[in-house]
Amino acid sequence: MKPKVYVTRKIPEVGIELLKKFCDVDYRDEVPPPSREELLDAVEDVDAIYCTLNEKIDEEVMDKAGKLKVIGTMSVGVDHIDVDHATSKGIYVVHTPGVLTETVADHAWALLLATARRIVEADRSIRNGEWKIPWAPTMLLGYDVYGKTLGVIGIGRIGSAVARRAKGFNMKVLYYDIVRREDLEKELGIKYAELDELLRESDFVTLHVPLTPETKGLIKERELKLMKRTAILVNTSRGAVVDQKALTRALQEGWIAGAGLDVFEKEPISVDDPLLKLDNVVLTPHIGSASHDTRNKMAEYVAEGIIKVLKGEKPDNLFNPDVIKVRSLDEVKMI
Ligand code: GLV
Repeated sequence: MKPKVYVTRKIPEVGIELLKKFCDVDYRDEVPPPSREELLDAVEDVDAIYCTLNEKIDEEVMDKAGKLKVIGTMSVGVDHIDVDHATSKGIYVVHTPGVLTETVADHAWALLLATARRIVEADRSIRNGEWKIPWAPTMLLGYDVYGKTLGVIGIGRIGSAVARRAKGFNMKVLYYDIVRREDLEKELGIKYAELDELLRESDFVTLHVPLTPETKGLIKERELKLMKRTAILVNTSRGAVVDQKALTRALQEGWIAGAGLDVFEKEPISVDDPLLKLDNVVLTPHIGSASHDTRNKMAEYVAEGIIKVLKGEKPDNLFNPDVIKVRSLDEVKMI
């Protein structure tokens, strides 16, 4: 019998085609995520769940899915999955590291440049008929990027890719991480700084940490007040890494100059949220990895990971390798 996979929502076709070669696919071909009830109903007799970052895969879901062997998420972040519980139950978790790195790094830079040079505000001013004077010495002044200091918080794959791009802008790069990376300091010409020092010295601060209990609220009032009044914050990681209320005040009261944000504490952000009233913020709706190529690669990579586990092989995108000690690959092999 073929393994049964529940795919929670519409994904690029390549992922579905690959799954169908080896599995019975229960494909919920809809853009919005399933309701909690729908999710709980659908997982009862599945061997694998193919989900996205919007579905909370917690104890309740895993306990309901008695035959579950593998969870594949079309995201690099796994904060929506109770990974410890999965591991304790012998459930493999696969995700999408690596394939989205450069695309997210491009997006962080797009936000950085757009915020520094007020691109969205300028575009809006033309559309609103506000461009009356052909050129003015003081019109829409922004901040230079070239030659400034970039502070990267979290120097994993994406943080490193962002830092690498800074060379072209002749920037000094500081980084902070819980693990000091002397290899990267040499390779990328970057310098380690304690968090407070990085915040005080950087003209641009960009966040690339996973959301964990340790990073939740990492940037709050105290940290925002340490930043330069001319500094810009970029967040393409997870909204909850920043205290959004404090950030809103920082932007309203000029503790910092601007922010480029792809992620929010609650997504979608409410249209009434005060952040939407501010001109010094550039907002995008969690599209860091949203390029045609990358989303296709992500869709395929998750499918490959799920199939590998069900073939009894170790996938290179396995997030919880300790799971093998709890339930061996031979025990989950079905294909
Ligand atoms: C997106 O936020 C991801 O985790 O891939």
